[in-house]
Amino acid sequence: MAFVDRITILVLLALCDQCFMNVEINVHKLKVAQHIGPKYVGVTIDSSAVRKQWGNIDFKSPKFLTLAKGLAPNFLRVGGTDCDFLIFNKTTTPMNGIIDKPKTHTNFTMTVAEWDQLNNFVSEVGWDLIFDLNVFLRKDGRWDPTNAIELLKYTIEKGYKPAAYELGNELDVFRDFNVTAREVAPDFAHLKQLLSSMPELAPYFILGTDAGTVENRSVTFMSEFFEAGGGASIDVATFHHYYMSSESATTEKFHSVTVLESLRPMLINVINLCKRFIPTKQVWLGETSSSYGGGAHEISDRYVASFLWLDKLGVSSVLGIQGVLRQTFYGGNYGLINSNLDPNPDYWLTILFKRLVASPVFTVPQPPNPDLRMYAHCTNTNSSMGYTTGSVTIYLLNLGNTTVPVDVPDMVNKTHHIYMFSPGDDSGLTSKSIKLNGVVLALTNDNELPPLKPVIGQGNIQVEAYNMGYIVFPGAMRPECV
Ligand SMILES: *[C@@H]1O[C@H](CO)[C@@H](O)[C@H](O)[C@H]1NC(C)=O
Ligand SMILES: *[C@@H]1O[C@H](CO)[C@@H](O)[C@H](O)[C@H]1NC(C)=O
Ligand SMILES: *[C@@H]1O[C@H](CO)[C@@H](O)[C@H](O)[C@H]1NC(C)=O
Ligand SMILES: *[C@@H]1O[C@H](CO)[C@@H](O)[C@H](O)[C@H]1NC(C)=O
Ligand SMILES: *[C@@H]1O[C@H](CO)[C@@H](O)[C@H](O)[C@H]1NC(C)=O
Ligand SMILES: *[C@@H]1O[C@H](CO)[C@@H](O)[C@H](O)[C@H]1NC(C)=O
Ligand SMILES: *[C@@H]1O[C@H](CO)[C@@H](O)[C@H](O)[C@H]1NC(C)=O
Repeated sequence: MAFVDRITILVLLALCDQCFMNVEINVHKLKVAQHIGPKYVGVTIDSSAVRKQWGNIDFKSPKFLTLAKGLAPNFLRVGGTDCDFLIFNKTTTPMNGIIDKPKTHTNFTMTVAEWDQLNNFVSEVGWDLIFDLNVFLRKDGRWDPTNAIELLKYTIEKGYKPAAYELGNELDVFRDFNVTAREVAPDFAHLKQLLSSMPELAPYFILGTDAGTVENRSVTFMSEFFEAGGGASIDVATFHHYYMSSESATTEKFHSVTVLESLRPMLINVINLCKRFIPTKQVWLGETSSSYGGGAHEISDRYVASFLWLDKLGVSSVLGIQGVLRQTFYGGNYGLINSNLDPNPDYWLTILFKRLVASPVFTVPQPPNPDLRMYAHCTNTNSSMGYTTGSVTIYLLNLGNTTVPVDVPDMVNKTHHIYMFSPGDDSGLTSKSIKLNGVVLALTNDNELPPLKPVIGQGNIQVEAYNMGYIVFPGAMRPECV
């Protein structure tokens, strides 16, 4: 008897091994979880680029413009630590070819020419600018808006229309400068009042406080800001997130379930806080990437970084985050494009996210196999991909080294469009390039992006080791997907 039982258990275990590996999703049974906007994914350029007088960025480069246009519609946030040392100067001109050796935590100038270049660039590529104003310009313990007024008056004169403003950056992290949450709350009220006195700038919105996350002190900072009444002066609550420091980054951590899952409780924590104080306002990841301190060399700019990025977009959207600003478009090891202005793997992932993924967001139960992570949204019907209403896009990541079969029982008789990414060369996870459906992606010429075509098929789907990608079901006929 006991012997038979043991055999039965062994047989069941063997069968169960199968059912643990197989992942199933029913497109018709998905429940709507959240709604996101068409500019859910945005990018940043760090204010330190202004200190470097834009460094290698060439706003006239056809390649740079092509890559930027590919991401439109898109928010560009220019902010970061250096925003609190940036002083607009209407009278200085760029020193011909002389670039001051960049020094951290010292004041520097943004010239008229630099502000013009930035505004002309966003306008040319169809992006919307979010600009972070300097909160360290202070007088008697309060923000001194004199320099901001100069910048805003010039902005009106030129007819520029930044979409949004911020004030200060990660004050909870840069505590040496002693600007507290209680002090900055009235500063935001001052900014709100100042902007409303300049109707030419409308429409615009205000984001704050750009608390740095990682530790609970950011949540404390945000909560003190709200308690001091700061919530009334912002339209969008922002905070920052990095999974780890660049010094402690490893390839393994970049596709570890534990690391990926570390984001969820932090988001829930901040979302709950915001629900309590500002229930009607949006919450954004106002600056976010894989690892802080510029990104990890030969990790943050490689194929493996795409796991952290795609998963962050998924977890954030399903929990109700309304905007994710990727640090950075250009700059550091975590740029979507590298220092030669060529796209890194995350660029391609981002462009397809924008073209294929829209609102609403559906809840997808986490598959029994923890290596396979999966998200579902309505398909974007307003992009060059030409999908029509009713279509559903799922995106999935296989963190592990074995193929995972995915069954979609209610779609077996309909075609699906697969956009599957894999490492671009033999270095595997640390590959510099990325393949889409088996073909390495690269710009073939500076004036247009290569076609990003799906493999059209039917039936069950095999997600190979370390692959990730998007699957569109054009025949899903979900009524929510209009
Ligand atoms: C701008 O620069 C000029 C000279 O370079 C200086 O005299 C002036 O004080 C500066 N203005 C601001 C607002 O820093
Ligand atoms: C930057 O300039 C402002 C205004 O002149 C001054 O109050 C502040 O101390 C300066 N900051 C640094 C780090 O030099
Ligand atoms: C911040 O405050 C501390 C003590 O509270 C003081 O020692 C320090 O000098 C202050 N820093 C600045 C930049 O004002
Ligand atoms: C810190 O935040 C996490 C959520 O990110 C929470 O689970 C934990 O209890 C907090 N710790 C403290 C000491 O408040
Ligand atoms: C479609 O996208 C274009 C370009 O981003 C935008 O101007 C337009 O408002 C969008 N249409 C709808 C219906 O969302
Ligand atoms: C696959 O990954 C597991 C850990 O998840 C490891 O134990 C195993 O050695 C790996 N196999 C190969 C072929 O790399
Ligand atoms: C798919 O087609 C087969 C054969 O026509 C049919 O038996 C099955 O019920 C269909 N499945 C679905 C989900 O429509």
